[in-house]
Amino acid sequence: MSNKIYLSEVMMPSQTNPSGNVHGGELMKMMDSTAYAAARKYCRANVVTARVDELEFHTPILIGDLVTCTAEVIYVGHTSMEVAVNVEVEVLEAEQGPKHALSAYFTMVALDRNGRPMTVPPLNLETEEQKVAFEAARQRHELYHERKKQREEARRQQKNSD
Ligand SMILES: CC(C)(COP(=O)(O)OP(=O)(O)OC[C@H]1O[C@@H](n2cnc3c(N)ncnc32)[C@H](O)[C@@H]1OP(=O)(O)O)[C@@H](O)C(=O)NCCC(=O)NCCS
Repeated sequence: MSNKIYLSEVMMPSQTNPSGNVHGGELMKMMDSTAYAAARKYCRANVVTARVDELEFHTPILIGDLVTCTAEVIYVGHTSMEVAVNVEVEVLEAEQGPKHALSAYFTMVALDRNGRPMTVPPLNLETEEQKVAFEAARQRHELYHERKKQREEARRQQKNSD
């Protein structure tokens, strides 16, 4: 069964600047909401956003465009999940169909009723594509832990030298 979540919205004047370009923050909010729904549905618990990787806006999105975010849990650690969020934009009066606008990986953490990180169920990997995406996310997760350790070590050394 697919664990994808879709969120579509037509961009309104309150979401744009005076020239009609949609604010980046509006898209980030839609992406975050979609990632939240995918992660929450996956683990059936409260989740919070711990991290968002790089976001680059290559395609202008304008007032009246239809924006569709798709989110899918592609990796689970112990208490965290990585959600891939893809954004497509469609000019409704044109015939080209939807076009890729941007994408990002969101790290969401499951929380128990006391607000503490809780274990999430293992991810069922069925296709080769899912296995490749899982492994790439696992490496990003490891990198995060390595960098965290390095920061902590640097802080310890700084404290000792003060
Ligand atoms: C996210 C949060 C719950 C993590 O709490 P914590 O005490 O640091 O917990 P841990 O160190 O045990 O980390 C829990 C998991 O999150 C992951 N994680 C935490 N911070 C992360 C980050 N910045 N990037 C990637 N992963 C992160 C850890 O790798 C760990 O994953 P694992 O259990 O699958 O190995 C806590 O930092 C928090 O509440 N942050 C604020 C969240 C928030 O308000 N978001 C915006 C509104 S939703």
